[in-house]
Amino acid sequence: MPTELRDPVTVALTGASGAQYGLRLIEALVAADHQVWVMISKAAHLVIATETDHELPARPARLAEVLTERCAAAPGQIRCFAREDWMAPVASGSGAPSAMVICPCSTGTLSAVATGASNNLIERAADVALKERRTLILVPRETPFSAIHLEHMLALTRMGAVILPAAPGFYHQPTSVDDLVDFIVARILNQLGIAHRLMPRWGEGAGQGATSRGD
Ligand SMILES: Cc1cc2nc3c(=O)[nH]c(=O)nc-3n(C[C@H](O)[C@H](O)[C@H](O)COP(=O)(O)O)c2cc1C
Repeated sequence: MPTELRDPVTVALTGASGAQYGLRLIEALVAADHQVWVMISKAAHLVIATETDHELPARPARLAEVLTERCAAAPGQIRCFAREDWMAPVASGSGAPSAMVICPCSTGTLSAVATGASNNLIERAADVALKERRTLILVPRETPFSAIHLEHMLALTRMGAVILPAAPGFYHQPTSVDDLVDFIVARILNQLGIAHRLMPRWGEGAGQGATSRGD
């Protein structure tokens, strides 16, 4: 692995619709030379197979190989962890990265994180991020939201997490699904403070119709 790789970011894909957001986020982090530590829930595997042309392997070592090839990542740049790999670095405050993104975030995982369930490695890693006051971004996708969902989002916001719903804007005049996906991924990268070229920030483009606001 080249020494110039930047700090790891944890990316967890759970079983909400919008697997494309998570896969594109991994690609963008790799392109920004970050190490990416990936966890994919069982339901997310089903969603990925339903929504994309990919059927990703469940076994972490093989999954890492497939994602490495897909994202043209450096050897070792992407690491994957199993559902109950309690020995993974993300399971402890002493090993977890400074930032974690759950993208997309199912309402089930949203609930588990809000209540500290820690029943699988994704939930535990998010719990660690909260207790260590690290950056935690959740990208929920559901519509409409119930009072339970809204209360969990409010609770997590109050705990310091960022709720960044998968709700792309249209003021950049998207012409493809990729444009809509990039809108959300750009917002996540902005939150992480990672430079990107997915779309110009508001006021930076040739005309405002071609630029992206921060909201
Ligand atoms: C194709 C498909 C789409 C789904 N879309 C959503 C969704 O948009 N939001 C959501 O919260 N759950 C959605 N679900 C349900 C979750 O996958 C289910 O609640 C699951 O238990 C979540 O588990 P996880 O949080 O461990 O990934 C979907 C399931 C499938 C199979």
